[in-house]
Amino acid sequence: MGPYLVGVVVPIVLALLLHSSKKGKKRGLPVDVGGQPGFAIRNSRFTSPSESSQAGISTLAELFEQSCKKHHDKKFLGTRRLISSEIEVSEDGRSLEKLHLGDYEWLSYCKAFETVCNFASGLVQLGHNKERLAIFADTQEKWMIALQGCFRNNVTVVTIYASLGEEALRHSLNETEVTTVVCGKRELDKLLDVSGQLTTVKRVICMDDEISAHKSTIQSYWTITSFSNVERLGRDKPVTANLPVSTDIAVIMYTSGSTGLPKGVMVTHGNILSAVYGFMKIVPDIGSKDTHLAYLPLAHILELAAENIVVAAGCSIGYGSPLTLTDTSNKIKSGTKGDVSALRPTLMPAVPAILDRIRDGVWKKVDATGGLPKKLFDLAYARRLAAINGSWFGAWGLESLFWNFLIFRKIRKILGGRVRFMLSGGAPLSGNTQRFTNICLGVPVVQGYGLTETCAAATFSEHDDTSIGRVGPPLSCAIIKLIDWPEGGYLANDSPMPRGEIVVGGPHVSVGYFKNDEKTKEVYKVDDRGMRWFYTGDIGRFHDDGCLEIIDRKKDIVKLQHGEYVSLGKVEAALVISPYVEIIVLHADPYRDHCVALVVVCRPALEDWALSQGIKYVSFSDLCFKEDAVKEVLGSLRKAGKEAKLEKFEIPTKIKLLSEMWNLESGLVTAALKIKRDAIRKTFAAELAQLYSP
Ligand SMILES: *[C@@H]1O[C@H](CO)[C@@H](O)[C@H](O)[C@H]1NC(C)=O
Ligand SMILES: *[C@@H]1O[C@H](CO)[C@@H](O)[C@H](O)[C@H]1NC(C)=O
Ligand SMILES: *[C@@H]1O[C@H](CO)[C@@H](O)[C@H](O)[C@H]1NC(C)=O
Repeated sequence: MGPYLVGVVVPIVLALLLHSSKKGKKRGLPVDVGGQPGFAIRNSRFTSPSESSQAGISTLAELFEQSCKKHHDKKFLGTRRLISSEIEVSEDGRSLEKLHLGDYEWLSYCKAFETVCNFASGLVQLGHNKERLAIFADTQEKWMIALQGCFRNNVTVVTIYASLGEEALRHSLNETEVTTVVCGKRELDKLLDVSGQLTTVKRVICMDDEISAHKSTIQSYWTITSFSNVERLGRDKPVTANLPVSTDIAVIMYTSGSTGLPKGVMVTHGNILSAVYGFMKIVPDIGSKDTHLAYLPLAHILELAAENIVVAAGCSIGYGSPLTLTDTSNKIKSGTKGDVSALRPTLMPAVPAILDRIRDGVWKKVDATGGLPKKLFDLAYARRLAAINGSWFGAWGLESLFWNFLIFRKIRKILGGRVRFMLSGGAPLSGNTQRFTNICLGVPVVQGYGLTETCAAATFSEHDDTSIGRVGPPLSCAIIKLIDWPEGGYLANDSPMPRGEIVVGGPHVSVGYFKNDEKTKEVYKVDDRGMRWFYTGDIGRFHDDGCLEIIDRKKDIVKLQHGEYVSLGKVEAALVISPYVEIIVLHADPYRDHCVALVVVCRPALEDWALSQGIKYVSFSDLCFKEDAVKEVLGSLRKAGKEAKLEKFEIPTKIKLLSEMWNLESGLVTAALKIKRDAIRKTFAAELAQLYSP
């Protein structure tokens, strides 16, 4: 009886208890926002949104200094040394650079502090005082040092994606009247291309030391200095710090714009600090034993916040890049180690595209192996899925240990084997990939929702929440409100769930757009209690337990899987030029990297073409089904797209030809013949699904 009780009854009872407690857990609670319209929720574990600050620290500069003093000799910043690089020619004739990188070499907290102080002093010696400074480079150790150096001098840093286009680059540097740019040697070339149009830039600090070859050609425009030279200047002649206060602007982040030129979001020290403390609470037991792999762009608020969390918690940061991530990454010389194997991180932020790539890689390998290993893998996957789904058999610890040992241990090695927490942001993660990551990598992957304007912080799912497709309850620093959007048919008192436009409030909501009061006034509001709110334009609904789900966007702008924005209206206006098009409805899906479209065909044009080609058909609708006809229209759309200078991802890859013109009665167009997107999406759901199938 004894062993039976322990072996069978106890696990079942435990599992049942666990199961029921998980289901009913309230993660967010309704909150009164003083009679304002809408339905608001806060995190259930924390009482007030203002408790997210920490005694004595009010800026990122203070946070950094205190942390460096506290963690002194601990490993802080790690970079891999380049051992060799060679050019390899692939089978299809493309040449690829392959790198052999060494182990991580570490800078301790105290050494990093010294370097930062030197850099800060060096800037002053160089003649850079109060003006803004831009960092235009890939993620690396020097990026962080330059950032912290600027903070010590109360210099606002303008961040620019290394991949930003020429016009946007010119615009952001010019608008912020930057006088010094810190960049890598690749970005230096980009800067040179637009040098004639940069009126305020005086100095460039190049992170790569071997710039002497460039020097002579550039000197006529700017003073060019190497990073190490700035450090040396500061070391020789230190200057006292000029520390900022909480309300000073720490960074102006230029976001890859959805329409037109990018906008600069002004973020204060206080904003980022609130977000940092908010995030820290969702990472279980974060502390100095943790190692973070930094490879996402630091010009993105998520990575910037993440690295400041690391500072706050006293962890280490190892720098890498998306192209050198794993042993099989493109730029890694075969037989040598990728960043994850060399670092074996415990914390790793991810964007959906990277997790998708890992998932596809594993499935492919399993399928290629076939036989018994594949059968075992499938069985293990199914069992773990059932466990996550709440089957109490699966919660049986021994079984899960068994599968881990047999199957998933090997897969976990892909990420170095020690990752214990993953944070996914930037775009929605598909349920399929989230499940895969939970199961095969054995890592809770938490999905969040946030924007540059809210310092990446708004909601984040909690690590014990295994549901998919939701983005969790508000972070401790935030209050999330849903307000009516009657035009879209979403109301805060909808049942069974409140729905509406998502509005984010809290101390992490940034102060607005740089030199753009009009836009700032439109989407930022301060209520009579002094709370700042940001109107996101996204539509969400709250589940019973207080978790948010994103269901729509107010504007017809869709962010594709890799982060590019497609403005549906703009693209449609460009493509309707094609002679074959009466109406075109572009469809973009945030889980995909390409668009598809429905085309109501201009009958005479297509019939003329069919006649000229000698194509026989029974009826016009029959013609619209013919592959040649689809090809012809698609070709014409591509041409129109090219002429309008659309990006490749904006042009539909597949289309469905519709033979019937839409009239008012169809309910698909308005009286002014404007298309009704939601109705169309519903009516043609099957056709759209088919266009996306391989
Ligand atoms: C740069 O900015 C100034 C105002 O700050 C503006 O007058 C000028 O046209 C801008 N130049 C370019 C090339 O954008
Ligand atoms: C920091 O710099 C800004 C902009 O130059 C200035 O307005 C602010 O007063 C400075 N802060 C301190 C504490 O000096
Ligand atoms: C998991 O549960 C959901 C709903 O409760 C169900 O639709 C789905 O089929 C289940 N999946 C598995 C693999 O049991």
